[in-house]
Order: sequence, then C-alpha cells, then structure tokens
Amino acid sequence: MSILVFDSGVGGLSILRELRLSLPGAALIYVADDAGFPYGDWEEAKLVDRIERLFAQLIAEHRPQLCIIACNTASTIAIEPLRQRFGSTPFVGTVPAIKPAAERTSSGLISVLATPGTVNRAYTRDLVSRFASHRHVTMVGAPDLALMAEAYMTGGTVDLNALRTQIAPCFVKKGTDRTDIIVLGCTHYPFLANQMRKIAPWPVDWLNPAEAIAHRAKSVATGIGADQTDTQSDTQSDRVIFTSGAPGAKLVQLARSFGLSQI
Ligand code: DGL
Repeated sequence: MSILVFDSGVGGLSILRELRLSLPGAALIYVADDAGFPYGDWEEAKLVDRIERLFAQLIAEHRPQLCIIACNTASTIAIEPLRQRFGSTPFVGTVPAIKPAAERTSSGLISVLATPGTVNRAYTRDLVSRFASHRHVTMVGAPDLALMAEAYMTGGTVDLNALRTQIAPCFVKKGTDRTDIIVLGCTHYPFLANQMRKIAPWPVDWLNPAEAIAHRAKSVATGIGADQTDTQSDTQSDRVIFTSGAPGAKLVQLARSFGLSQI
C-alpha cells in the first residue's frame, strides 16, 4: 500500500521509523512542509487553509491509500477538515498522549510538552478535560524546541542550557509528589529525548506516541484491506517531498540517512 506521512518538518520521521516496523510492505512518501516550518505559532485558520491546499495537491498527484498526519500541531487543528474534505482517503492523526499518561501516572502529576499552537488548541484542552480532569496537568508550550530538534537532527549541537529552560516548567512539585510523566506532544521531540533525560531534574517517563500511531495505522490499513506489500516498494525506495522544492543539503542528507530519496 502507499502511505503519505506528513509533518511541518523532519519530526515526523519519529513516526516513519515505527511505521516501517508495523507496515513493512508499505511504500512511504514522507512530506515535510519545510516551506511552512515551524507550525508552532501559525494563526489557526491560515494553517488549516495551507494544509488543505497542500493535501488537495498531494492526494491528486500521489493517490495515497492512507495519510498519516505525523504532526500534533497540524492534527489538532486540521484532521477534521481534512477528513471532511477528502472523505474517501483515510487519515490517522497524531495528538498528545494525554489519556495514556493520565492512566499510567503514579504521582497524579503529568505534563504535556508541545508547541505553543498545540497546547492552546481547543482539541488539546478537550483531551485534558475528557481524560485527565482527575489529574494535575501542566501544559507547556515550548517556543523553540522544534527548531532546536531540527538543528540537532541536521548535525547541529544542542545548547543544554537553552534546552533546560524549555523543559523546566514541565517539572512540578506538589507537596511530596512530583511530575512522573511528560507527554511528548510534538513529533520532533523524541529526537531530543536523550538530551532531555540527561538534564532532567529527576527521572520521568517521556511518553512518545510513535509506536501507538504506527499500530493505529496498521489497524486502519488492515481495515481497508490495504496492508499488503506495495508492488512498487520492491523496486523503489521510500520517497520524500520538501514543499520548498529547495531543501538545504543537510535536510537532504538527513532524509537520505532515513532511506528516503527525493521526488
Ligand atoms: N512536529 C510538529 C508537531 O508534532 C511541530 C513542529 C513545528 O512545526 O513547530 O507538533
């Protein structure tokens, strides 16, 4: 089957690597909207409009059987409009793993680390009130973290002091209890998880939803009878599209290291 995997940048590669395990026969097309990156503080209506226009073109050109929105900032605002507009194509979204965090926490204190856009969305607030109203939830909109992750992924170093400042509000104490789970609410963040672990004031679980999204994708693919090996995938590697049409050499190199060839 052919699957389109979409993110504002290269963070969605954290989902792509899990998709390869759950759907090994799929032909993947990874789309990085590098021309629009970062999505974190886009005005909502403009962002929905941009994403809808991109998908109109992508679906017409590539006819994917399934689309994965490997981006929380996009999913929390655009997944419903996309489903409505492109009804015959199934979409799997990525939203902060608030429900599993609320179920698993021992201390009752969880934090959601995401872009400012994602933490402010009605969709995200609704997840908190539906699934975690009995927990103490701290929402942290990190303005620079996605950019820091992209810089790191493309060969840069991480300024640990800057990283510490971005994640510090996630660590909360209440009496003798302290935060024990941090939801990674942006697909870029798993690439910084090792550094975040190193500088964390105390150990916590960093909840990465990638595996769960890949399982969901597998079950949707099975449901539509499209979980078979794509005939193209024997002859052709997974591919990448950068919406700018002119990605820098480091982005191209990163995509190559993930086995993606440019369309
Ligand atoms: N990777 C995206 C997410 O999961 C956001 C990165 C950005 O564009 O700021 O939210």
